[in-house]
Amino acid sequence: MLAAIITLQTQENASQNLIIQRPPSGLSLQGRISIPGDKSISHRALMLGAIAEGETEIQGLLLGEDPRSTAHCFQALGAEISELNTQLVRVKGIGLGNFQEPMDVLNAGNSGTTIRLMLGLLASHPGRFFTVTGDDSLRSRPMSRVVKPLQQMSAEIWGRKGNTLAPLAVQGQALKPIHYHSPIASAQVKSCILLAGLNTEGKTTVTEPALSRDHSERMLKAFGAELSIDPETNSVTVTGNAKLYGQKVVVPGDISSAAFWLVAGSIVPGSELVVENVGVNPTRTGILEALAMMGADIQLENQREVAGEPVADVRVRSSQLKSCTIAGDIIPRLIDEIPILAVAATFAEGTTIIRDAAELRVKESDRITAMAQQLNKMGAKVTELPDGMEIVGGTALVGAEVDSHTDHRIGMSLAIAALNANGTTTIHRAEAAAISYPNFTSTLVEVCR
Ligand code: S3P
Repeated sequence: MLAAIITLQTQENASQNLIIQRPPSGLSLQGRISIPGDKSISHRALMLGAIAEGETEIQGLLLGEDPRSTAHCFQALGAEISELNTQLVRVKGIGLGNFQEPMDVLNAGNSGTTIRLMLGLLASHPGRFFTVTGDDSLRSRPMSRVVKPLQQMSAEIWGRKGNTLAPLAVQGQALKPIHYHSPIASAQVKSCILLAGLNTEGKTTVTEPALSRDHSERMLKAFGAELSIDPETNSVTVTGNAKLYGQKVVVPGDISSAAFWLVAGSIVPGSELVVENVGVNPTRTGILEALAMMGADIQLENQREVAGEPVADVRVRSSQLKSCTIAGDIIPRLIDEIPILAVAATFAEGTTIIRDAAELRVKESDRITAMAQQLNKMGAKVTELPDGMEIVGGTALVGAEVDSHTDHRIGMSLAIAALNANGTTTIHRAEAAAISYPNFTSTLVEVCR
């Protein structure tokens, strides 16, 4: 069988076109794939390392643009962080409450996790002033979800549109503890408040309507924070005036990055892939449940626990997928995988419905509009819903000129769709993949060989 021809073209403005030419006879994907470190865990390892006492050693950190943004911000706040160019990164912490006032604006780039989690730490540093911003996408994303609860803790934060958009200015204060009932299941909101609670006298609690990823809770405990969890009510309480101590962190592979290969292996006939070292924390495995509902042939092998996080190798063999409905409490456990699930649904028999996912509209792009527009250019039948999508499966896709909307997960999802589309697909602004998956294209070439 012929391989796909995959080319990366750099434009004059430095943006990249990823061109995928599928051979007329089709493809089959084979191989063992190692994926980059988990983005959520990477951010938290850098942040907790920075506010801990002593040294933190991070193995397997994601060397993508987003963790680089976190590293730059925390270096400006006083932490010493070794170069982000090897699999082992060292952080020399400054101890909780010891941020220096940065000389310049803290730039979180494209990263919602960086800005929102960092805001909780900045707001609880009395007597110090900080300014934070991000790129075009981040400056249009809602910050009120963290600014409001922080204000309830008596934080002082100013910004555009009634203090809801970055750039934001923060005058650090001694905060007071609250019990915050979050209206959304968001790990960024939960983590922001818990981090603010670390340097606040008393007990700070967050209750969320459904369980979001719990990496902060796991890592805070490992670093020595006093934390109690009530699974009945989805509540977490942190005790203030905490002391954190540097740790050895091992970052598992990112299930959100594995998801591209799990869908690719499912939809491209005759494929068999093994994705190695995938983090399978139950607050993240909604994608495995959704693909199982769709009849995917996926097995977890070599299941183990690495530094407090469950890990497995995941084998996928191609199969005819069928439609399903994805809604309710599963949504926070697969929120970042919905773009690639939309691709899977395009090749499934029947009509897939995705609901309760309005959060997708305020991610790095409006992911509902982005996926509907771009997949429809390839001949798919995707209808936008206010809080999701309706996808009529079984339409043959054809190559087209599509665009990432500068969103990493949109660009990579379209590349996987292209593997099963007749002809040639060009993905514009494909460089966005570097946010979470710097070597995505080389792995794509490898599995298509
Ligand atoms: C993240 C939480 C999620 C997710 C994002 C990373 C985190 O966002 O979409 O990619 O690391 O806490 P929300 O908390 O806004 O749902």
